Amino acid sequence: MLFSGVEGHPDRPAEAGPRAAARKPRASRRPAQILVIDDEEQIRSAIVATLELHGYGVRKAAGGNEAIAMLKENDFDLVLTEVHFSDWNGIDLMEHIRRQQPQLPVVMVTAVHDICVAIDSMHRGAYDYLLKPFEREHLLTAVQRALAHRKTLQENHRYQQDLERAVRGRTDMLRQAMEELEHSYDVTLEALGDALDLRDSETEGHSKRVTAYTIMLARAMEIDPAKIKVIARGAFLHDIGKMAIPDNILRKPRALSAHELEIMRGHCTRGYHMLRKISFLHDASEIVFTHHEHHDGSGYPAGLAGSDIPIGSRIFAVADAFDAMTSDRPYRKARTIDAAREEVMRCAGTQFDPGIVEVFLKFPNDLWNELRAEITGQSKLFSDFAIANSPAASKS
Ligand SMILES: [Fe+2]
Ligand SMILES: [Fe+2]
Repeated sequence: MLFSGVEGHPDRPAEAGPRAAARKPRASRRPAQILVIDDEEQIRSAIVATLELHGYGVRKAAGGNEAIAMLKENDFDLVLTEVHFSDWNGIDLMEHIRRQQPQLPVVMVTAVHDICVAIDSMHRGAYDYLLKPFEREHLLTAVQRALAHRKTLQENHRYQQDLERAVRGRTDMLRQAMEELEHSYDVTLEALGDALDLRDSETEGHSKRVTAYTIMLARAMEIDPAKIKVIARGAFLHDIGKMAIPDNILRKPRALSAHELEIMRGHCTRGYHMLRKISFLHDASEIVFTHHEHHDGSGYPAGLAGSDIPIGSRIFAVADAFDAMTSDRPYRKARTIDAAREEVMRCAGTQFDPGIVEVFLKFPNDLWNELRAEITGQSKLFSDFAIANSPAASKS
């Protein structure tokens, strides 16, 4: 007789008693689906009959290949499998199933003399084993225990997925909030830059243009977009320190005295100290501090030379001089772009980094004209100067 008195794994606590095992699953729910794999028709049929009697949906397979095909086609909740088949080793089959469906418990059904195989199978991933011949109660208890285990695994999996979804959602919200915050910072900077341009009436629109030119050159040099953003902020606020320069010096129509010149030159350090305390402008403050340094070391305030000058400042220096030369001043008319190019070329290696001058010279005149026309007289945030997709730079 198949159903005799040998129980399953003694270490597994029963998650429901035999009486509960005999209870049929509620009709309103989908009955648990069980795949029974055994090459002995008599045993298969006896197991199937018992399980069906207790309300489970049961399919049977006579060997490993048939079982694998059925597992692909159907959604099972539990597999009961023999150890020996003609086409597969039962433990290999169990491991294969576990790899394909880690949440699908497999209960091994073995003969008493295969107890070592049964224990080995548990070490290798089987949930439980039943030793033949076994009683109906033990079969039902083992089945219910395995199904409860699967339910716990599925609930944990769902919980994990919900958690990951929630974390993703919160991360997205945080990123969005940071972007909005950054945008509001940029709006503030825009107002600050405009205020500066208004005070220093010679340079109206200069901050925006010089920022756009700097971005264009930085893009052509394939500088990382995140770094370009920092450089752009530094370029936009390069003369912020002039806020602290008295009007009688800043707006003096005649040449400055040595003392006045010293005060005027202090705008780099003043600007640096203004920005470095603001966390999101801390990196940009480096550009502000070094924006009057020269490639040959003849600039100020630190007399830095070559690559000791931050790359952003070296790029900015070309953009700044180019815009100054091509803009009208009360005491002179703007130079032509060709004349400004000549001057930039002439200062390569002294005031400017020759590598950056080389990049600058690759831009044709109409691109500078286009960019200038686009910016002048328009309200345009420097953050909107499409760091990634500048129409002018894309033609480079
Ligand atoms: Fe300056
Ligand atoms: Fe400037």
